[in-house]
Amino acid sequence: MAVKEQWRSGLGFVLAAAGSAVGLGNLWGFAYRASQGGGMVFLMLYLLIVVVVCLPLLVAEMALGRSTGRSPLVAPAVAGGRLWQPMGWLFVLVSFGILGFYVILMGWTGQTLLHALIHGLPQDKAIAQDFFDQIRGGQPAFLGQFLSLILTSLVVACGVQKGIERLSRWGLPLLFILLIGLAIWAAGLQGAHEGYRTFLLRWDANELLNPTTISNAFKQAFFSIGAGIGAILAYASYLDRRAHLPRESVLIVGMDTAVGLLAGMVTFPLVMSFGLADAVSKSTIGTLFITLPTGLSSLGMTGRLVAVLFFALAYIAAITSSVSLLEVPVASLMDRLGWTRVRAVCVSAVLTLLIGLPAVTGLPKLPGLSDAVSSLDVLGWMDSLFGGVLLILGGLFLTILLGWVAPSRLRNDLNGCNTPPALQRLLLVMLRWVSLPVVTIGVIISVIEFL
Ligand code: TRP
Repeated sequence: MAVKEQWRSGLGFVLAAAGSAVGLGNLWGFAYRASQGGGMVFLMLYLLIVVVVCLPLLVAEMALGRSTGRSPLVAPAVAGGRLWQPMGWLFVLVSFGILGFYVILMGWTGQTLLHALIHGLPQDKAIAQDFFDQIRGGQPAFLGQFLSLILTSLVVACGVQKGIERLSRWGLPLLFILLIGLAIWAAGLQGAHEGYRTFLLRWDANELLNPTTISNAFKQAFFSIGAGIGAILAYASYLDRRAHLPRESVLIVGMDTAVGLLAGMVTFPLVMSFGLADAVSKSTIGTLFITLPTGLSSLGMTGRLVAVLFFALAYIAAITSSVSLLEVPVASLMDRLGWTRVRAVCVSAVLTLLIGLPAVTGLPKLPGLSDAVSSLDVLGWMDSLFGGVLLILGGLFLTILLGWVAPSRLRNDLNGCNTPPALQRLLLVMLRWVSLPVVTIGVIISVIEFL
């Protein structure tokens, strides 16, 4: 077998992993979920879950990848025995499911970007809604899905160093610069404080018992960090022994959270200062693609420039994420069947396209259903199932595997990179006694919400 690929440097790995974390989840997902009314409770639960669940989980997932050196499909069985093989299948299935709708969102992003660039912005909300209705399904959506998938495939086909690492090295810093610039600009808008207050700072203790808010916080944490289905596991399998996993996890999680908050600081002032709060509180999946361009249109040329920058930034963020999702099946096929990277990419891309197709075409009226299902509903459903329930379930399994079944694997790996014993113990205790019960609650609530 060929020598296994490796990152060129530790920094390359961190940038790639942070690139995987930072994506449409931070921009589209954060705006979408934060606007469903949870306010400060949503924000705090999200941050809490990130710290007590996602952070230890990320270390565990990386340790599993690095210590086995295997793909997401094979690593669970290597660590836990044959009984854990289904977890590998779950990882691959969920990656396909998430990528299936993710590339469609990328398509919307690309279309909105091109429209702002070439034709300018919609004058009012009705026009914006019209435009979104045109691109959200059918041929335009398919075109966006198809092209985004091709771009993602090209990067992954170029390999770990020449594809993924190279893209993240310039993509991530550029994204940060653009986002900070936009957040500063948005802070100066008229309704900025109103916006922060309404969506992020409003405290309502009743929300603590609202299952929608709780499950939104779980989904947002898991999706945004991208932990739980082996994407980071795959990246870590190309990592050398020295990289200090706890430190890198903190870096990755920190960057991701910073981008999520910064994105909120851009979108919510905009929404408020242009009186679009109504549109958002209905919180359709399309919020970002409707309100942002509408709001910005009243600022003339400046607005158009900001829109172009924002959606370009979103697209860059998206592609550094979609490559990590595609890497899961690709690494698995290479590992399990000995396929070449290019062959694995082609087959995975075709499967992804097929899985996402119902979210482009919608579903016709089927015998068991009372009505035809719109493409948007299918997409929302895929987001809840793959990006919610099953993703969190993957996290639960990982916690059990590395916390209880194969803790020595975690310990040995952390020893290898000189993690202080006290920190190792802390991580294990967190994984066993904090993360596990909390994720269990997350799975239960998100299943109830889903049904
Ligand atoms: N984290 C990315 C985002 O916020 C999406 C993503 C990349 C992801 N890899 C993942 C989500 C793995 C879940 C699992 O857009």
